[in-house]
Amino acid sequence: MKKIPVIIDCDPGHDDAIALILAFAREELDVKAVTVSAGNQSIEKTLLNAKKVLSFIGKHPPLAAGATKPLFRKLETAAEVHGESGLDGPSLPAPDFSEEPVPAVELLRKTIMETPEPVTLVPTGPLTNIAILFTAYPEVKKNIRQISLMGGGIEAGNWTSAAEFNIFVDPEAADIVFKSELPIIMAGLDVTHKALFLREDIAELRRIGGRVPILVAELLDFFFEYHIAQDFAGAPLHDPCAVAYLVKPELFSARQYHVDIETRGEHTAGMTLADRRHWSKTKPNVTALLDVDRAGFVNLLIEAFKSYEK
Ligand code: BDR
Ligand code: CA
Repeated sequence: MKKIPVIIDCDPGHDDAIALILAFAREELDVKAVTVSAGNQSIEKTLLNAKKVLSFIGKHPPLAAGATKPLFRKLETAAEVHGESGLDGPSLPAPDFSEEPVPAVELLRKTIMETPEPVTLVPTGPLTNIAILFTAYPEVKKNIRQISLMGGGIEAGNWTSAAEFNIFVDPEAADIVFKSELPIIMAGLDVTHKALFLREDIAELRRIGGRVPILVAELLDFFFEYHIAQDFAGAPLHDPCAVAYLVKPELFSARQYHVDIETRGEHTAGMTLADRRHWSKTKPNVTALLDVDRAGFVNLLIEAFKSYEK
């Protein structure tokens, strides 16, 4: 089987952690590197969380830490969603490997340029690292096949009524990425709010047992309670959608739009503004995922968690 070379740029984060666990379980994907951004928590915390999760699942990819803050703005974190550590809930052992002594942008450039096949980028946090990469080394775009990202939303936001967290944190970076002319698959809130893990799905993980299913159940306990308190029916597994689409695109329905990033709006900074006029002639730059076969998605994830126990 021809594997899809991917690089995951993340800010773990409960759902980022689960996205990593999914990506490393699937034989369709060849994870060439992992880079980390500030977002859900400071870069020190997201880096430590990435190392802990990867160590726990026995994976040691080339790893590097990226920008400590958004391009122009002060860093906004999501401590109420992910806790003070950025990954509250399970107590994970200390990591057993280290990041490379280079900034994320250098690891991204080197990995993209040295991979014979065009690479797929999978950003699941603010887009700061990717924007710096495209600005510093625009030549890398020639060897990027597509960007499958979690961010934005056609209908509405979560951090504000207009903006989703990842795009809200660094709208100027998102603007650079959405104008990159590379194919973008946007797993936004339209689909991720349907990619729910329900209470019974978490119970199923406990019934299955084993190190990784139990780790995921413990991650989800924390993440689930936050969302239940916000009147969600379950825990929306945002970031795994960006990975799951690459593995099983048939689980998703999608539509193409031209999407601009609002960088200046008083109430709308970070909004992913889609041109929904049916008569519009704007060129689509985004494939927006809109719906998911929830049962198929949950099954894909559970099978991935189980595969670590074999
Ligand atoms: C996004 O924000 C973060 O809290 C999650 O990890 C996800 O990437 C959802 O808005
Ligand atoms: Ca994330």
